[in-house]
Amino acid sequence: MRKLFRNANIFTPADPGRPLAGRAQGAIQVFERGAMRVRNGRIEKIGPEADVLDGLSPADVAMETDCGGACLIPGFVDPHTHMCFAERREAEFSLRLAGTPYLEILKQGGGILSSVRATRAASEADLYETTRRHVLSALRLGTTTVEIKSGYGLDTETELKMLRVIARVGRETPSDVVPTFLGAHAVPEAFRDNPDAFADLVIEEMLPAVSAQGIARFCDVFCEEGVFSVAQTRRILAAALKSGLGIKLHADEVHDLGGAGLAAELKAISADHLLAAGDAHIAAMAAAGVVANLLPGTAYSLRKPFARARKMIESGLPVALATDCNPGSSYTESMPFIFGLAVMNMEMTPSEALTAATLNAAYAVGMAGKTGSLDVGKQADFLLLDGESPAILAYHAGVSPVSAVYKHGERII
Ligand code: NIG
Ligand code: FE
Repeated sequence: MRKLFRNANIFTPADPGRPLAGRAQGAIQVFERGAMRVRNGRIEKIGPEADVLDGLSPADVAMETDCGGACLIPGFVDPHTHMCFAERREAEFSLRLAGTPYLEILKQGGGILSSVRATRAASEADLYETTRRHVLSALRLGTTTVEIKSGYGLDTETELKMLRVIARVGRETPSDVVPTFLGAHAVPEAFRDNPDAFADLVIEEMLPAVSAQGIARFCDVFCEEGVFSVAQTRRILAAALKSGLGIKLHADEVHDLGGAGLAAELKAISADHLLAAGDAHIAAMAAAGVVANLLPGTAYSLRKPFARARKMIESGLPVALATDCNPGSSYTESMPFIFGLAVMNMEMTPSEALTAATLNAAYAVGMAGKTGSLDVGKQADFLLLDGESPAILAYHAGVSPVSAVYKHGERII
């Protein structure tokens, strides 16, 4: 069955088979009166309307949609979230507003550790409901593919419970869901005085269980002062690679510890956050082909200086954008909000931000073969925006201009 979408202003990065870096990050394809043909959920042809209609008889088209001149872009890929959690932490947000630092709250047994207590106590059914609600909320805001991490279990049983919930959300919602194992998200209270022993537990017990069940595609580590050192992170990620998982890391979020350098050394698929990453590590990441996954919602919520996106783009580092949706440092599932922060606070152009929130984001989670741009053969995952160009996402601030969401060519919102 073939579907035709016509009379749209199409904006999309074109996929050259690798993430877009440097000047190419902002080189967006535009079809001003564009059209797209979709067959069996995949893009069959895209371009100027006259070209797409050429040779097409009405009998070939089962459904035709006049987009009314709306702006059409690829669905957002959100490549870094912690959407699977049991309870919000609103009281902690107020503490932070009153001046207590994020890492200090963690040190006192709150923060991630309070989410760990709640997630261990939650039933699998309740955890599923909460996670599903977040994914559906993200879908309404245009996110058609989402990565979700475990990491609020910090014991084998609860980490596996989270990964089962994440897999079920992938099966039972229209969204594509990429599962990441983040057993090394914090040092649990029982290991407070011996973090190396906890790293051993992640390597010897959790990783084998996760890889035996085949329920994670990536392994992530929170590499940060007072959390996991560069040496511990290296150990865990090396073991993850051996067990067949891809690797990524939370790097240099608060301190310039060397996580970005480690990402380059291990050729991680992405290094995420990078608020404090130094120049040498940025250059090393660019040379190693690591995607810089930036999370401006975290800088916003922690009131920190934003990551140096301009410096990264000018250094030839492909930049992606994500929400980091979690109950502590960035409670948002809105890619339009993240897009606005990137353009207004990180000096990214709307075209660069579009690539970052779609194609480069897809590369950051190994999904670019299927989605992230409107190239022929990819899934027809796309959005209609109430505006003339993707700039509307930053311009019409605080609301979502996403007026329709399509997954595999089917309207779901
Ligand atoms: O990416 N930095 C570590 N992990 C999350 C925060 C998780 C939380 O506070 O619950 C982040 O910012
Ligand atoms: Fe995170």
